[in-house]
Amino acid sequence: MAKGKETILIVDDDKGVRKLLRQRLEDEGYRCKEAGSAGEALARLGSSPPGVVLLDIKMPDKSGMELLPEIKERYPDVVVIMVTGISDVTTAIAAMRQGAYNYITKPFNLDEVVHSVARAVEKRKLELELRDYQQHLEQKVEEQAKEIRETFLGAMAALSFALEAKDSYTAGHSRRVSEIALAIGKELGLSEEELEDLRWGSLLHDIGKIAVDQAIQNKPGKLTPQEYEHIMTHCIVGASIVRPVVRSERIVEIIEHHHAHYNGGGLNQTLRGEKIPLLARIVAVADAYDAMTSTRPYRTALSREAALAEIQRGMGTQFDPLVAQTFLKLSGAELMPQKKKILVVDDEESIRVLVRSILSNDYEVIEATDGQEAVQVARDQRPDLILMDILMPRLDGYTSCHMIKTDPTTCQIPVIMLTGVSHKLNVEISKEFGADEYMTKPFSPQSLLETVNRFLTNHPEGVIVG
Ligand SMILES: [Fe+2]
Repeated sequence: MAKGKETILIVDDDKGVRKLLRQRLEDEGYRCKEAGSAGEALARLGSSPPGVVLLDIKMPDKSGMELLPEIKERYPDVVVIMVTGISDVTTAIAAMRQGAYNYITKPFNLDEVVHSVARAVEKRKLELELRDYQQHLEQKVEEQAKEIRETFLGAMAALSFALEAKDSYTAGHSRRVSEIALAIGKELGLSEEELEDLRWGSLLHDIGKIAVDQAIQNKPGKLTPQEYEHIMTHCIVGASIVRPVVRSERIVEIIEHHHAHYNGGGLNQTLRGEKIPLLARIVAVADAYDAMTSTRPYRTALSREAALAEIQRGMGTQFDPLVAQTFLKLSGAELMPQKKKILVVDDEESIRVLVRSILSNDYEVIEATDGQEAVQVARDQRPDLILMDILMPRLDGYTSCHMIKTDPTTCQIPVIMLTGVSHKLNVEISKEFGADEYMTKPFSPQSLLETVNRFLTNHPEGVIVG
């Protein structure tokens, strides 16, 4: 720090002393201010305090000894040098115990004064630099710790997604639960920190399933009480996996309590009502909704309406009424993250059921049983994609496709012909009638999903939310 930039406040009731010190210190390149009393000194310290104060001990209104603690408390960065008569060195030493840096004695040896001030300025400069460095270091350590935590959580989330992806019944589940939970959390006015914890907690809520027996998890039939109990251990297991690496207990609580029932009726439940952490109550609703609208080994997916009715039914028993109400309100206003809608048009029920079971985890599937109904449903419900059979009663798939593609309200909807007819001519006719793609039966679930995902850009496969 250049001398010229350091300001020295000289506090002394003797004008002559002030003048003497000022002249010498200004010669040395310091900027000087003067105060003739303690009151004046406090006014001069003001909003831009000097670096060093030369403080006379003996002053009429308030002594330097009285003023010193006030200066140190209000301006801890200011370095104070006591100025005292040769006879009062003991007091000066007492002042140093109270935070003064040094003392100089009258009559002055001006070289000594300059030397003492220079050392005080240097000390202050070092202290400020050190504090700056420490603050910077603490911030850097905190940033790095956050980065390490997030890397670890991200790796665990990736592991959880990989586990889910292995199983078509659960693929994308945690990501969808997280989207729904965050929408509810925002509506409930959660803070940024709470939302961040909600995001991690919901992405990792089922991480404990890595310890669950896959055969039990994928059992098509009803679970025995023992099997159910085994599956439910994933809450405790998950919490113990995550606990050592997260800073916020809220993330652990979400994982531990996401299956708790609001009325306390869940398995081995220790908490009930508002005692269950709020973020866990939010994830409970999001989790149940996504599970209900996804096909599982033991049942096909419920429609959106049926799942919403179930949430409504569980208000106050399984679900927190406020959280459930918020979710239903957002769903009603279509503010919830929605699955894209696919219309399956086929007169054969077995095909519609098959397509529904393949697509319903990632998409909302609606149905029509012939070409005529398809045109109407397309107009009323505006699906994001249509899978269209060709040979159907009342109106065939070609004509239906043509009508959909020439209606300005539905012409943008991609249509994939999904048919048992594999002749080249049929492919050409389909193109003529405006179809976007042609798939033949039998098809593999994978190829159907891939084709559909190609048209609907926000498909969930492989998406890892960081
Ligand atoms: Fe779970």
